[in-house]
Amino acid sequence: MKLDFYKERLKGMLNHKRYEHSLGVMNTAVQLAAIHGADVERAALAGLMHDCARGVPGDTLLLMAQEFDLPMLEVDLALPVLLHAPVGAQLARRDFGVQDEVVLQAIAVHTLGDEHMTLLDKVLFVADKVEPGRYFQNVDKLRALAERDIDQALLNCYDLSVSYALRLGDQVHPRMIAARNRLISEKPNRKI
Ligand SMILES: [Fe+2]
Ligand SMILES: [Fe+2]
Repeated sequence: MKLDFYKERLKGMLNHKRYEHSLGVMNTAVQLAAIHGADVERAALAGLMHDCARGVPGDTLLLMAQEFDLPMLEVDLALPVLLHAPVGAQLARRDFGVQDEVVLQAIAVHTLGDEHMTLLDKVLFVADKVEPGRYFQNVDKLRALAERDIDQALLNCYDLSVSYALRLGDQVHPRMIAARNRLISEKPNRKI
């Protein structure tokens, strides 16, 4: 199975905790994909690979983003760690040989979301927040919600990320705001 090849390479790129997190996201993404009707094999690959660039320092991420010609905003200079998602998608393609654009896209948007999220994108985004190694207030409620309503779970994940940025006094990335606004506008009667 090709996943074993990826796992061996990932072990060399991530510390133990992040590697274990990647396995947790892989398993949770598979479960959520099965529940909601997304492609389970793609969910496994996206979950396993999503943080492949998470060990790259922020200044290097900025350089790599420039080399890969990724679209960047000024806010990215202040929040370079978030670039591990789009840079990770590029590394997954270049260094691991992942060619499935659907998987690469899910990896690319897993930190900020996007105005146009596929079901796989949503599954990965939420799985990243609710995998078994995550501990925060009401995580169990969010886990249960993720199984019932992936859109509402995604919205809650956006809210958690925005709240976290506000608590830290950080900038809030406009791409996440746009993604959140789009999700809400698509469901005008949604209770939030
Ligand atoms: Fe990540
Ligand atoms: Fe992650």
